[in-house]
Amino acid sequence: MSFFLFLCFITLLFVPSFHASDTDQDQDSGNTHAILPRSDIDLLEFPLNLEYFEAEFFLWGALGYGLDVADPALAFGGPSPVGPKRARLSPLIRDIIAQFAYQEIGHLRAIKSAVRGFPRPLLNLTKESFATVMNSAFGRPLIPPFDPYANEINYLLASYVIPYVGLTGYVGANAKLLTPRAKRLVAGLLGVESGQDAVIRTLLYERSLTKVKPYGVTVAEFTDKISLLRNKLGGEGLKDEGLIVGKAWGAEGMIRGNVLAGNKFSISYGRTPEEILRIVYGGGNERRPGGFYPKGADGRIARSHLI
Ligand SMILES: *[C@@H]1O[C@H](CO)[C@@H](O)[C@H](O)[C@H]1NC(C)=O
Repeated sequence: MSFFLFLCFITLLFVPSFHASDTDQDQDSGNTHAILPRSDIDLLEFPLNLEYFEAEFFLWGALGYGLDVADPALAFGGPSPVGPKRARLSPLIRDIIAQFAYQEIGHLRAIKSAVRGFPRPLLNLTKESFATVMNSAFGRPLIPPFDPYANEINYLLASYVIPYVGLTGYVGANAKLLTPRAKRLVAGLLGVESGQDAVIRTLLYERSLTKVKPYGVTVAEFTDKISLLRNKLGGEGLKDEGLIVGKAWGAEGMIRGNVLAGNKFSISYGRTPEEILRIVYGGGNERRPGGFYPKGADGRIARSHLI
């Protein structure tokens, strides 16, 4: 009798939690492979391009190796990135970037458990590739060329370039999704992606007035130039803001510090896949691969723009 009661007790204790974790998994990573509409599949696959970029850049920057070591299967046979390196970072920043790296691996897994996806695209993560972005941002060659891996400030500035673009992409995609499953996944990806952006921006904000060596330009000015470049390349107006802005552009038009970017209601900006391609290809044209993606991004949306 007491054994029977014990069994009942155990059953009550465990059955609900097993059930809850099943449900969680279904919603979070879509393990059921239920059929999604074509447009949801396309919109979920597109961000893999950025997640691959972030996974490689953060893994290499923090740990000195990429997916080929961390989880080769996730690359789906796609080529290894060109030029990433272990960055010179303090223990705190290395720890934070390593956390971001593993988060990106999780994101790749989550997307790939919901949709088939595609192999890792060729990524140009050479210091020259980042130097080219900075030169376009400043409208002149920085001398010596910007090296994202050389020190902590440079690495954080290079990181400013990426999760934010992913964030605007998730905001943009969300409104077009049809199914609750896809929306749940994108909301979850957006949450962590914007968290990463907030951490990077905060670390940079602490250093706003520090001059980036040897350029004699402050961190705040760097972020301003990078944001202006992205606005220009995206071609759809103001969707990007540096760390210190004119008061009119701060929250409620009341403040110049701009640790988070947002519109006049402090709502995150959204971007379409096309705007994102114009930015990450570096030339303002979704039909012309280049920049970080020498052979273009993958998935139906990106491919549809390639001739
Ligand atoms: C990477 O980008 C740099 C700078 O634009 C370029 O010189 C180099 O050829 C690129 N490498 C590849 C493999 O595309």
